Amino acid sequence: MGLSAAQQRAVLLVSLSLGLTLALGFGLPQVLKLLFRFLGFPCDNVSHCIVLLYFVLVLCVALPAVPRGSVPIQGKEVLITGCDSGFGLALAKHLHKLGFTVFAGCLLKDKNGDGAQELESMQSDRLRVLQMNVCNEEEVSRALEFVKRHLRDPEHGLWGVVNNAGIATYGDVEFTGLDTYKKVADVNLWGTIRVTKVFLPLVRRAKGRVVCMVSMLGRMGSPSRSSYCVSKYGVEAFCDCLRQEMYHWGVKVIAIEPGNFIAATNIFTKDGVEKQAEEMWEKASDVVQEDYGKPYFIQQVARMKSFVSSGSKNMSSVINAITDALSSKYPYTRYNPSETYWWIKVQIMTHLPTAIADRIYIR
Ligand SMILES: NC(=O)c1ccc[n+]([C@@H]2O[C@H](COP(=O)([O-])OP(=O)(O)OC[C@H]3O[C@@H](n4cnc5c(N)ncnc54)[C@H](OP(=O)(O)O)[C@@H]3O)[C@@H](O)[C@H]2O)c1
Ligand SMILES: *[C@@H]1O[C@H](CO)[C@@H](O)[C@H](O)[C@H]1NC(C)=O
Repeated sequence: MGLSAAQQRAVLLVSLSLGLTLALGFGLPQVLKLLFRFLGFPCDNVSHCIVLLYFVLVLCVALPAVPRGSVPIQGKEVLITGCDSGFGLALAKHLHKLGFTVFAGCLLKDKNGDGAQELESMQSDRLRVLQMNVCNEEEVSRALEFVKRHLRDPEHGLWGVVNNAGIATYGDVEFTGLDTYKKVADVNLWGTIRVTKVFLPLVRRAKGRVVCMVSMLGRMGSPSRSSYCVSKYGVEAFCDCLRQEMYHWGVKVIAIEPGNFIAATNIFTKDGVEKQAEEMWEKASDVVQEDYGKPYFIQQVARMKSFVSSGSKNMSSVINAITDALSSKYPYTRYNPSETYWWIKVQIMTHLPTAIADRIYIR
């Protein structure tokens, strides 16, 4: 029996803090004693205080989350974008099973895409599939009309929007054309903003939820992922600002920041990586081709290809996070479902001084 991800984190955090205490040596009690005296605490026995601190730490990290209650699901309606495959497809089926009414936006409904067909074959009037390219202004406004027409009560609005549609790109900055930066932002960033703005009036009526699929790469950079990171950092900024504006309206805005689930979805395929590679090399300038060299380039592409089968194959932690964001009475602002390695990396990259974090992971 392995430890759960939360337990692994608890063990790591506790051993880290114990290690720090030892490293600081026996000077720590004196320091703490002085501090407590300075603050006027009665706690004279400092070791008791240390034990207490550890106890609180362990409780915070290791205990299951305090139950936060849930909203009634019956009759709640949710729109999800990008339901052709991956998280979106799985989420549409999961939410439907829980009793939500699901509007599943698919990029390829008109072209009889597999995901759209699978969802349509369920033949449920609580699961409606609609054509929706998030980059297409007209399709998005038609989707709004469709949703309005099929809402149980348009006056009560739409409970949730899940901005899930997304694409992924890779490549060093000098190999990445501006068109690539624009293409990925078009879907991940402008798509998210477009859909959110169009559906927000309905979500405000319902005092509902806006959920954005971001990524751990919306919180930390990574070599050869600048085009993707730029788009995801943008979504993160959008969520932060919208969340602050929406307190007033009772709408909750939530960011989901999954770790590595590449193996579980279609986000990266071997073919896709190869196709991008060919294009990148062709379009790179002579000086870039010469300076970086083909061997380096081939090595980078091979590294990316090895990622195609990396990460967790089990996406249930992501699906559960989104479900919690939509159904908990008090959802978190951010969820980071991920394997322990990636969870720790994000904590370090976002909390330690940059020079130290980069020294650990990058340089
Ligand atoms: N998998 C991971 O490791 C991971 C980690 C962090 C965050 N994410 C995020 O999770 C979200 C879902 O990705 P996924 O991993 O489930 O990958 P996925 O299987 O490729 O799903 C993304 C879906 O979005 C669709 N899509 C692409 N462009 C679209 C557009 N313009 N309009 C509407 N739909 C569009 C795709 O359709 P086609 O298949 O037809 O292109 C696909 O069905 C993305 O935002 C991604 O950035 C994924
Ligand atoms: C996926 O993970 C969940 C816990 O997050 C676990 O309950 C489930 O059994 C796992 N599924 C598979 C197929 O391993």
